[in-house]
Amino acid sequence: MSKFFVTTPIYYVNDAPHIGHAYTTILADVLSRYHRTIGDDVFFLTGLDEHGQKVMQAAQKRGLSSQAHCDDLAPRFLNLWKTLDIEYDDFIRTTQERHKKIVQLVLQKVHENGDIYTDEYEGWYSIAEERFITEAEYGSGQFRDVKKLKEKNYFFKMSKYQQKLIDHIQAHPDFIRPEHRKNEMLGFLRQPLGDLCISRPKSRMDWGIEIPFDRDYVTYVWFDALVNYISTPGYGSDEAKFNKWWPADVHLIGKDILTTHSVYWTTMLFSLGLSLPKTIFAHGWWLIGQTKMSKSLGNVVNPLDLIENYGVDAVRYYLMREMVLGLDANFTFDSFIKCYNSDLANDFGNLLNRVSGLIQKNHGGQIPDPGTLGNEEERIKLEAVSLPARIKDLINEYKVQEAVSLTLDFVRILNKYMEVQAPWKLAKTDMKGACRVLYTAAEGLRISSIMLSPVMPEKTALVLSILGANQTLPVWGELKPGTVLQAHPPLFPRIEVEKN
Ligand code: ME8
Ligand code: MG
Repeated sequence: MSKFFVTTPIYYVNDAPHIGHAYTTILADVLSRYHRTIGDDVFFLTGLDEHGQKVMQAAQKRGLSSQAHCDDLAPRFLNLWKTLDIEYDDFIRTTQERHKKIVQLVLQKVHENGDIYTDEYEGWYSIAEERFITEAEYGSGQFRDVKKLKEKNYFFKMSKYQQKLIDHIQAHPDFIRPEHRKNEMLGFLRQPLGDLCISRPKSRMDWGIEIPFDRDYVTYVWFDALVNYISTPGYGSDEAKFNKWWPADVHLIGKDILTTHSVYWTTMLFSLGLSLPKTIFAHGWWLIGQTKMSKSLGNVVNPLDLIENYGVDAVRYYLMREMVLGLDANFTFDSFIKCYNSDLANDFGNLLNRVSGLIQKNHGGQIPDPGTLGNEEERIKLEAVSLPARIKDLINEYKVQEAVSLTLDFVRILNKYMEVQAPWKLAKTDMKGACRVLYTAAEGLRISSIMLSPVMPEKTALVLSILGANQTLPVWGELKPGTVLQAHPPLFPRIEVEKN
């Protein structure tokens, strides 16, 4: 048995979660559920990033204290994760004591290692980005809310670890994925790496974790947030737990936060003498038209509306099926409906309806005995039993979209097989043949449901219960002849859209 430790970003609580946040969290959930089905020991971590200027400003806008604002918004995330069937193992909020004291411990250690110094700095500060930007960045005019600031601050010696980081990236091809993101980071690291300002004077910004060696300052929000990946699995508090889980198998993130993860976080880990996560996977963006869906742009799709109308599994399925991991994807209502109607209503849902309808009609509602398999059935069986290994390879490569399509291809093979074999006709002339075909299709349906269960936990559990089957490892022939099928409504009723 191996372990699998997967994380999502901890989201800013400046507004309610949208489809973009739901996407990364569902992706982590799908990977977790998949690893659990193959018997791995899984730790799935998600949570909220509650400090920093963005959150403080959001609270001010609402006339609330920062903490009251966070306490008010946190349940929206928790409720959405519940509605989306997210089975996380821990949920960290960075305002929790268990996190704050570890951030202070980390600061203390990095300080003792000689990796923190003070300096006076004058430069352009972007409020939106919460960091000082370079002259060149300032000149680009791409930054909103920029002002000139001069302050004494604490700096982390990131530059000291530049070469070590480059060497690590080059020696570990799986460290930054996909490949083009790795190349982007290596390109970025060709320029000299500056040091990282990790403090904010309380006079300007006091919503953060106090610096243990200077109480006039709070910690820069990223130096606080990234530590969640080690504070939660027990760094500095539970050695056995920490040794069991660290390093993380994968940090799932969007490409917007690649630099903070592959440069800030890794150099922090170098300073602490800890090993680096095995993989940082940066997926692309959900776009609306040509632009990123984002809270600050206000063009977000509310996942709750979609779930209410089409069900949670359809939303999970669409998000996993539509985005090729690593590339951007366009969220459109049209493509959602198309995907739903073709894959879920016509292919997967229809297979169940046909199989169960015919078993009710011609076989007394009981799963028939297949007798001896013919050539066609052997071919189906071969497809079915090779599916788990092919899916495992794809999932290990983070090709979730391909894993889903592969399973749907198999569902289509089963539908085609049904059409060609026409067990409704066979029932009149060759009852044994009809039994063989329906058993084979039902068994194929069972196996495809198990393979889809990480993506659609509710509907696949329903299919399995209709078939009287368990979520066991998909070995051919587990389906028991004689089992009485349960009645059920259509799995995914077609969505009729008005044409105009
Ligand atoms: O960056 N498409 O939080 P955040 C795809 N607190 N994914 C999207 C998306 C979109 N349009 N919009 C958001 C932060 N995401 C920090 C993280 S981690 C130690 C601290 C997802 O609320 C994606 O995973 O801005 C992205 O990286 C994350 O939400 C950013 O969430
Ligand atoms: Mg963001």
